[in-house]
Amino acid sequence: MEIYRAKDYKDLSRKAANIIQAQVILKPDSILGLATGSSPVGVYEKLIEWYQKGDLDFSKASSINLDEYKGLPPENCQSYRYFMNTKFFDHINIDKSRTFIPNGLEPDADKTCREYDNIIESCGGVDLQLLGLGHNGHIGFNEPADAFSRGTHCVNLTSSTINANKRFFSSEADVPRQAYTMGIRSIMLAKKILVIVSGKDKASILKKVLYGPITPQIPASILQLHANVTIVADEAALTQM
Ligand code: GLP
Repeated sequence: MEIYRAKDYKDLSRKAANIIQAQVILKPDSILGLATGSSPVGVYEKLIEWYQKGDLDFSKASSINLDEYKGLPPENCQSYRYFMNTKFFDHINIDKSRTFIPNGLEPDADKTCREYDNIIESCGGVDLQLLGLGHNGHIGFNEPADAFSRGTHCVNLTSSTINANKRFFSSEADVPRQAYTMGIRSIMLAKKILVIVSGKDKASILKKVLYGPITPQIPASILQLHANVTIVADEAALTQM
């Protein structure tokens, strides 16, 4: 596991974007595993900037996102499809028909999850998976549990996650209680994993993830077992190391 120390969020975003840029240059038809949340916003801004300068070409790339709120249509400004379109896809030359996100509107959870696992499989797996880190150690929407999850599944969000994500909604009551997420096993099958962690409020969970016991109660702790993980964290997130 490589840990890169960034000065601040801006530096973190540039370092992480550089790793994604290298991936796309070396393998133009990369399958990128992408994430939402506030952590990757700066990374997407950098990638857009380099695309606009002509340094990056996404025309052959595909993307598979980690998760989506259950019940939100793509045009809802809090849906992860809306997030990805407005913060990234609308500004680069990726073929939108090859950008995959679970279908939040499908009420049949089994169907959605099966279909999403088929998509992941038919893409041949993720080359580089970008991850943020939840305050309780969640990755995607894989919340603390008694066992590590395998494929895509529907989760009940914990109160910690609802509380953390309510800042994007007009009230806590508006935060969906369920979401579809790629499973831990699928995440672990990515060839490379890039985790970005910013802010003092993530320092204690980051320490547990990297050096604590591997337990499904801290889902990201399983990353200790992955052969190719890069962490890019800012100084604030590394204060407990
Ligand atoms: C959400 C997302 C995760 C994300 C996490 C952290 O719950 N489902 O994929 O990593 O929040 O978000 P942030 O980067 O805003 O702290």
